[in-house]
Amino acid sequence: MSAPYTAAPFVGKTFGVTVARLHKRFGTTPVLKDISLEVKPGEIFCIMGPSGSGKSVLLKHIAGLEIPTSGEVRIGEFDAADPATRDQIRLALVFQAGALFNSLSVYDNLALYPREHRLCGEAGIRDRVMHALAILSLEKAAHKFPSDLSGGMKKRVAIARALVMEPQLLLYDEPTSELDPVMSATLTEIIATLREQTAVTSLVVTHDRDLAFAIADRVAFVMEGRIRGVGRPDEFKKPADPVIANFLNPVIDLKNPRFKQLENNHE
Ligand SMILES: Nc1ncnc2c1ncn2[C@@H]1O[C@H](COP(=O)(O)OP(=O)(O)O)[C@@H](O)[C@H]1O
Ligand SMILES: [Mg+2]
Repeated sequence: MSAPYTAAPFVGKTFGVTVARLHKRFGTTPVLKDISLEVKPGEIFCIMGPSGSGKSVLLKHIAGLEIPTSGEVRIGEFDAADPATRDQIRLALVFQAGALFNSLSVYDNLALYPREHRLCGEAGIRDRVMHALAILSLEKAAHKFPSDLSGGMKKRVAIARALVMEPQLLLYDEPTSELDPVMSATLTEIIATLREQTAVTSLVVTHDRDLAFAIADRVAFVMEGRIRGVGRPDEFKKPADPVIANFLNPVIDLKNPRFKQLENNHE
């Protein structure tokens, strides 16, 4: 089999993403508050922010899995909320937890989409699956089951499964969460390499400062459902905004512990 990262899995059309005045409420609770963003075709665009700030909900709107309360999301010219858009665009979402089927082997997890969509015969499916596995150095895992895999391997399988779709837009939700620093670096290299090889627009929701600063063309900070800042990573090396600065470089102060302030705030 080929060495990892040598062959382009596909080269094709990719799409930019436009988010315009997006609001989302669940019941009466506002979660996204007037989000506007423009992601250019071919960019690696990272969305950072604290837990619960609305990053995954934003990504789900781009994937068409949530419908805006108001405002809109466009993928190229297509409305992300329109179910017909999925017939026009191959979009892959790599979920935080991988979302693999535990009862299926790695091979069958990857073969599921092309089989369901009858993209090609079994021989063609085998080529696609083995190619995607080779790109992620997973050939030997083809006949293993998800329960036999380490966390890092599961994440790679989830990305390989996305590649089998030959995606024109790749969305990642926390691709390096729960990984050790070396595996996080590996995943970061994979995301960057896939974009190099395919020019596919890649949106990455992440807490991982190292990932974002290493590979993002631009970063957006989402705080409490709003965009707090957007720019190139080098513009956030020394952030002028104290909220972003505190998020990126929280100071551990044992004399004045933060968690005690939190308790006091709730009293
Ligand atoms: N389907 C849902 N119904 C109700 N509340 C939701 C739903 N999905 C997310 N939320 C809430 O929206 C907020 C943002 O969630 P999320 O986007 O998952 O945050 P994160 O930035 O950590 O990814 C959270 O308070 C979460 O509880
Ligand atoms: Mg999330």
